Amino acid sequence: MGIFQIYIYFLVKIMIQIVNWDIVLPIWRDKLWPGRKSEIKPTNGIKFMGGFDKRIESNIPTFFGAFIGNECVGVNSGFKTDENYYRSRGLYVNPDHRKTGISQILLYAAQGQAHAENCGVMWSMPRESALSAYKRFGFEKVSAMFDENVEFGPNCFVIKTLGV
Ligand SMILES: CC(C)(COP(=O)(O)OP(=O)(O)OC[C@H]1O[C@@H](n2cnc3c(N)ncnc32)[C@H](O)[C@@H]1OP(=O)(O)O)[C@@H](O)C(=O)NCCC(=O)NCCS
Repeated sequence: MGIFQIYIYFLVKIMIQIVNWDIVLPIWRDKLWPGRKSEIKPTNGIKFMGGFDKRIESNIPTFFGAFIGNECVGVNSGFKTDENYYRSRGLYVNPDHRKTGISQILLYAAQGQAHAENCGVMWSMPRESALSAYKRFGFEKVSAMFDENVEFGPNCFVIKTLGV
C-alpha cells in the first residue's frame, strides 16, 4: 500500500456498528474459515488457556462490523467466558482494506463491550499470521503456538488487562 492510499484512508470515514449474526456468519464461513469442518456457532466454549465448557456457548455475543459506506469491510465479535474474562473472536478484515488499522478499531470495539460487561481482562486465540495485529493492540502472548484442536492454526492465547 502506497503512502497516498494510506493518506486516503485517514479521510475515509470508517463506521463501527453492532451488527447481527446474519452479517457475520457468511463472512466467517466463506472468508475467515473457508472449508471449516466444525460447526460455526455465534459463540464457542473454548476456555482461556485451554479446555472447553459448553456453558460458555450460552453467553450472549456482540458482533461488530466495520463499514465504509454500505460495505462491511471487517468484523469481530466478543462474549464473556467467565465473570471477569471477555473473549474477542472472529476478527476479519477484507484483504482490500488491510494494513490501515481497521483491525485495531474492531478490537477497540470489543474492548469497549468488555468494559460495558464489567470484564477486567480481554483474551483471544489468534492464529500465528494474525498475532502482530493483536500485539499492536496491546495483547500479550501468554502461550506457545499450538496445533491441537484448531483448524486454521497454529494459534496461541493472548491477553490484555483492561483495568476496569
Ligand atoms: C489479521 C487481520 C485481521 C489484520 O487486519 P488489519 O486491519 O490489516 O490489521 P492492521 O491494520 O492492524 O495491521 C496489520 C499489518 O499492517 C501494518 N499496518 C497497519 N497500519 C499500517 C499503515 N498505515 N501503513 C503500513 N502498514 C500498516 C501493521 O503494522 C501490521 O503489519 P505486520 O502484520 O507486519 O505487523 C487481517 O489480516 C485478516 O483479516 N487476516 C485474515 C483473517 C485472520 O487471520 N484473522 C484473525 C483470526 S485469529
